[in-house]
Amino acid sequence: MADPAPFLPYGRQLIEDDDVAAVVEALRADFLTTGPRVEAFEAAFAEKVGAAHAVACSNGTAALHLAQLALDVGPGDVVIVPAITFAATANCARYQGAEVVFADVDPDSGLMTPGTLTDAIARLEGRRLRAVLPVHLSGHAVELPALAALAAAEGAVLVEDACHAVGTRMAFDNRPEQVGDGRHSAMACFSFHPVKTMTTGEGGMVTTNDPALASRLTALRSHGITRDPAAFTAPEMSLDAASGEANPWSYEMQALGYNYRLPDVLCALGLSQLAKLDRFTAQRRALTARYQTLLAPLAPTVRLQPGAPYADPALHLLVVLVDFEALGRSRKSVMETLRARGVGSQVHYIPVHRQPYYAARYGPIDLTGADAWYARCLSLPLFAGMEAGDVDRVVEALRGVVA
Ligand SMILES: Cc1ncc(COP(=O)(O)O)c(C=O)c1O
Repeated sequence: MADPAPFLPYGRQLIEDDDVAAVVEALRADFLTTGPRVEAFEAAFAEKVGAAHAVACSNGTAALHLAQLALDVGPGDVVIVPAITFAATANCARYQGAEVVFADVDPDSGLMTPGTLTDAIARLEGRRLRAVLPVHLSGHAVELPALAALAAAEGAVLVEDACHAVGTRMAFDNRPEQVGDGRHSAMACFSFHPVKTMTTGEGGMVTTNDPALASRLTALRSHGITRDPAAFTAPEMSLDAASGEANPWSYEMQALGYNYRLPDVLCALGLSQLAKLDRFTAQRRALTARYQTLLAPLAPTVRLQPGAPYADPALHLLVVLVDFEALGRSRKSVMETLRARGVGSQVHYIPVHRQPYYAARYGPIDLTGADAWYARCLSLPLFAGMEAGDVDRVVEALRGVVA
């Protein structure tokens, strides 16, 4: 009897022999933590996304927190975050004592839009807006130029939560760009969690075109410490009195930083995965196109999260919007039936403002776009190790549920 087809999770890593070999080589090298692969990974990633600088860190949450630290976000500040995202997007502002104002999202794309950002700005009630953190949900790009203009008009900084969107391309006014190149934002934050398009296990990156931000990010991810004699500010501590040169052991802690470093071993995996990013994103685009074709007959009960005309996304998540009411079935029962047929699914996301922590802090907020998204969203399997036949299997299982 043929083996049953393997279970398809909604996302998973693709680790190949050369990835393993790269990690083993790093394990046998001199530095397990900060070593030469860190800078090599940063340089390669910056080049890949078209940014001047990239700073590696321990995960996407650390990347978002470092961005807030580098901007000196603090008590009295407000940060605007879309209600549909992972909790970390909002939490990074709270770590700094800033308050979060949740923006609504478009009910179909799940994205913060110029309209929902304008509405959130109207709820600032005189408080200082320090940063706006749009999320490229699933890998679908937000409308960066318009959001940047709105943020700038408030004197606020745009920081992209690009944790889903490595490889996403865009064109505004016919100019090709890509997520992370920093054309419209101060910083973009990436995650290399295993379900993402490329992985380092845990891992993150901040890209920026601002050299001052890059050096702040670099110091803050390692305790706020600098070893650059040119940056020293305490000569009596750091310099040799006789020669005026830096002591060989000197370092200065100039700000309150963290240990958010990404080890050399994981940067080895990152370098190896980055070299395959084009293949991974091409496969994700091909799988997405197949889903698009095969899911079309299931509309309007099941529809794909729509893309924007200005973007060519490399999707991290394949989200369908299901009209569970019309179907007469709950999402739970649909997920259970899919699971019984070997198909995993997930929900991205429960609106963050409805999480008990935020509901207790800010009270009830009426964000109808976020609620409408949450009522219908379902993430189906999408990962680079899938093949066309796997998409057929997922759609077949879904068709069985919808029929
Ligand atoms: C939109 C978004 N932001 C931030 C994060 C945090 O990334 P990490 O899990 O690497 O800390 C994630 C991770 O799932 C995410 O999906």
